[in-house]
Amino acid sequence: MKKHKLGILISGRGSNMESIILACNNNIIPCASVECVISNNAKAYGIERARALSIKTFIVEKNQKLELEQDIITILESFSIDLICLAGFMKVLSQSFIQKFHNKIINIHPSLLPLFKGLNAQKQALKSGAKFSGCTVHHVTADVDSGDIIKRAIVPILKNDTEESLSDRILKAEHKCYVKAIKKILSTNQ
Ligand code: GRF
Repeated sequence: MKKHKLGILISGRGSNMESIILACNNNIIPCASVECVISNNAKAYGIERARALSIKTFIVEKNQKLELEQDIITILESFSIDLICLAGFMKVLSQSFIQKFHNKIINIHPSLLPLFKGLNAQKQALKSGAKFSGCTVHHVTADVDSGDIIKRAIVPILKNDTEESLSDRILKAEHKCYVKAIKKILSTNQ
C-alpha cells in the first residue's frame, strides 16, 4: 500500500489539523502520514499542537504573496508532499500555486457549499434563517470555495443558536468530515 504524504497549511487554532494528524497516527487513515505543518502566522496555536504530536512545523512569514508561496513550495517539495490540506489557512492561494499542485489541494469550509462561501459562513447561515448548515471538504481552485466537493456533513441549526454555538457544532462535524474526505480521495488515488 502506497503511503501518501500529507502537508497541512494553517493560520490559527489547528483543531482540524490535529484531528487529521491523530487519524493518521491511529490508523484511521492508514495509508497516509502528516509530514509537515506550515503556518503563515508565528502565533498560531496549531503550531504548538503539531509540535506536541512530534510533527515538523514551519513558519513562513512574508508580506509578498509570491515570496510566501515560494517558501511554502520549497518546504512541500522537500517532503515530496502528495496532498496539501488547508485547515484554517487564511490566505487565498494564487492561480500559479494552485496549478502547480493541480488536484492536490483540498480545503474545509464551515458551510454546506455552494451556500455561504467566504468569511463568517456560520453567521451567514444563522442570518439566512436556514434550519441546517454544515461543512464541506472540496478541491481548491482559483475561485474561492468553489472547487469540486469531496464530502459534506449536515448539522442542524437550533432555535437558540448563537454564532458560537453553531460554530462549535459545525467544528465537531468538520473534524470527522475532513478525515472521511481524505480517506475517500486517497482510496481513489492508490
Ligand atoms: C474551520 O472552521 C474551517 O472550516 C475554516 O477555518 C476553521 C479552522 O479551524 N476554514 P481550526 O484551525 O481547524 O480549529
